[in-house]
Amino acid sequence: MLRALKKFTLVLFVVIVYDCSANDYDDQKLQQLSRGIGKLSIEILKKVAADEENTIFSAYGISSALALCLLGSEGQTRAALREVLGLASLNDAESLRAFRDTNRMILGAGSLTEGSNGNLTLSSANAIFANESLRIRPEFLGQMHEVFEDSLVQSVDFADDAHGIQKYINSFVGEATHGRIPDLLSQPLDTQTLLAVVNAVYYKGSWKTALKVKQSVEGFNNFPCPTREMQPGPKPQWMTLTSKLRYARSRTLNAHFLELPYQSGDNIAVSMILVLPYDGMKCDFSGWIQRTLDWNLVAEVLTEMSETRIDLTLPKLKLKGTYDMKKTLTSLGLGVVFSNQASFEAMLSDQNRPVPISNFLHKAEMSVDELGTEAAAASGAFLRRRSRPLPAAPPIELVFDRSFLSMIVVDQNGVSLPLFTAVVNEIVA
Ligand SMILES: *[C@@H]1O[C@H](CO)[C@@H](O)[C@H](O)[C@H]1NC(C)=O
Ligand SMILES: *[C@@H]1O[C@H](CO)[C@@H](O)[C@H](O)[C@H]1NC(C)=O
Repeated sequence: MLRALKKFTLVLFVVIVYDCSANDYDDQKLQQLSRGIGKLSIEILKKVAADEENTIFSAYGISSALALCLLGSEGQTRAALREVLGLASLNDAESLRAFRDTNRMILGAGSLTEGSNGNLTLSSANAIFANESLRIRPEFLGQMHEVFEDSLVQSVDFADDAHGIQKYINSFVGEATHGRIPDLLSQPLDTQTLLAVVNAVYYKGSWKTALKVKQSVEGFNNFPCPTREMQPGPKPQWMTLTSKLRYARSRTLNAHFLELPYQSGDNIAVSMILVLPYDGMKCDFSGWIQRTLDWNLVAEVLTEMSETRIDLTLPKLKLKGTYDMKKTLTSLGLGVVFSNQASFEAMLSDQNRPVPISNFLHKAEMSVDELGTEAAAASGAFLRRRSRPLPAAPPIELVFDRSFLSMIVVDQNGVSLPLFTAVVNEIVA
């Protein structure tokens, strides 16, 4: 099967060359794109978050896959994609440049920090699989290569061997994510599929300051709520950290915001933003997401955080989410992409008929444990201070023992981009 496929396939395997010169970036466009992706992340969250279940997706990954589609689209399809990506005020060249720069910034976050500098692992797969009856334009492949160095467009025969294609796509994603996401498709795609868009992202980082593992018997979300039954569930393994961390309390969002930095390169900062709604919201977490959450407000709070002594207690986590984004993206205004009005003429030379995207699959995985650099030595120890220091205020205690929101955010030159968005409602052993 695979041999037969290879004979007909148009393969674009590309060695990724990192260009880390930050001066190259157009910060204003980057800012606009980051804001667009941020806004999209909250809109997607409002559609996919479910009560009593965990959610994790990468708005950055989904946006990259959408941008790949944008590159191949025309007319109304293109306009809809630009709108959803928040690029309506940029022209095509500017949009693509913003994407290229963002992509390099993100890929740079992975490459800059691997090895001696830390343990940041960021693996992603981004591909379009097109049925063999479609003809892919060679110009499109060239353009794609320029913008998305690590993406792939490949033709396969969906009608011929559904199980073989399933295996093939899974092995492509497995390889692209270095074995970390081996099982994107749990079942074969429909034999009538024309275009399938696939995106998968895996993340694991090491904290700047390692957390301590704490043996504790307390459960998670282990309190009585008026409309929800108490779920015994597996007991989480808890981690603690007492340190100075960037923190803010938001009255508009009714929540605590905390930044937990990862080890990362010099020009870029990667951190986890933990958002814990105030105690009063604990039985109405979904309601809090739907009513309160807004990217502009979140971005504002991110700039207002300041160093504060925090006593943090956080559960260990392994989060996984697989989504067929077709329904979600349709409800966000992208119906045309999946309809018989879809036009991908810049990618395909099949002018005489519309070619809708049949599937848009996304998978994200992230794991959170205590590992990081050994706790830094108390930094005040060598200060030759004559006067008696003021008594330190007691640290603010933050215990993430109830539903919370977590985002992995990449920061460069003041541009914040959400890499992952997750909701933790339960602990999965
Ligand atoms: C990287 O991770 C390994 C194991 O996961 C750990 O032993 C090592 O200390 C980490 N390195 C850094 C620099 O944190
Ligand atoms: C997909 O391509 C194969 C091979 O060219 C063809 O037989 C099949 O009809 C195509 N599927 C659709 C839905 O057009």
